[in-house]
Amino acid sequence: MARAAHATGEVLLSLENISLRFGGVKALTDISFDIRKGEIRAIIGPNGAGKSSMLNCINGFYHPQEGRITYKGVTRRQMRPHQAAEQGIARTFQNIALFKGMSTLDNIMTGRNLRMKTGLLAQALHWGPAQREENEHRAFVERIIDFLEIQHIRKVPVGRLPYGLQKRVELGRALAAEPELLLLDEPMAGMNLEEKQDMCRFVLDVNDQFGTTICLIEHDMGVVMDISDRVVVLDYGKKIGDGTPDEVKASPDVIAAYLGTSH
Ligand SMILES: Nc1ncnc2c1ncn2[C@@H]1O[C@H](COP(=O)(O)OP(=O)(O)OP(=O)(O)O)[C@@H](O)[C@H]1O
Ligand SMILES: [Mg+2]
Repeated sequence: MARAAHATGEVLLSLENISLRFGGVKALTDISFDIRKGEIRAIIGPNGAGKSSMLNCINGFYHPQEGRITYKGVTRRQMRPHQAAEQGIARTFQNIALFKGMSTLDNIMTGRNLRMKTGLLAQALHWGPAQREENEHRAFVERIIDFLEIQHIRKVPVGRLPYGLQKRVELGRALAAEPELLLLDEPMAGMNLEEKQDMCRFVLDVNDQFGTTICLIEHDMGVVMDISDRVVVLDYGKKIGDGTPDEVKASPDVIAAYLGTSH
């Protein structure tokens, strides 16, 4: 099923000749690709192919030894996580990273931190402008909660939620930062069919309604082929395919990499 094209053609992020090593392990070797504004870009590949490492380079968790990263026309060798966040890059993690004892609402609120201007003391005292700002942030978070259809769990500590809902809360926290580029590391892993369908719908709606550019890692080929505009394929840290879902599916290199793997 082909998706309507959202991509404007304008490049939002480009990665050129990225290489990343951990001691003797070559996690990424000479990888180049770009992400266009408004598209859903998937990264696929067998286990250990370097997919998460790639996302970690994009948002500044890892610093590649070689290569250049250009985001919104500004090139830097490495981007630090807080710079990436300030520039509108948000992400979710392969292993859910939420505050388990805190409620859904409060977890999503933490995604607003970057956008809060008044100091913590003023906020603690609920002083004038701080109170007003907090109310605005709360209203924004409530809109996300409505959007993700999680009103019924807004007060529940996330540690008590089933896995699929925790993944949805984590998406909510990333959305609270109002990202321009959203990085999702296996947003549907470990979900049942219904949860996957819900998550697919939310990913597509975020892209459609907010115009958010999305780069996601996913193992479920059906999902990838359905929702992405373009796909980059990694294998053993090298890029072996890049194109539309149909192009990638037909590539002999990609087919060979997937034969004999469990995906
Ligand atoms: N912090 C690290 N220190 C050492 N090696 C690492 C580190 N992060 C990743 N690697 C190595 O880099 C390679 C790529 O790992 P990565 O997690 O990026 O793969 P992946 O494609 O996301 O795999 P999976 O599908 O299992 O999540 C692996 O060999 C991994 O062991
Ligand atoms: Mg990974």
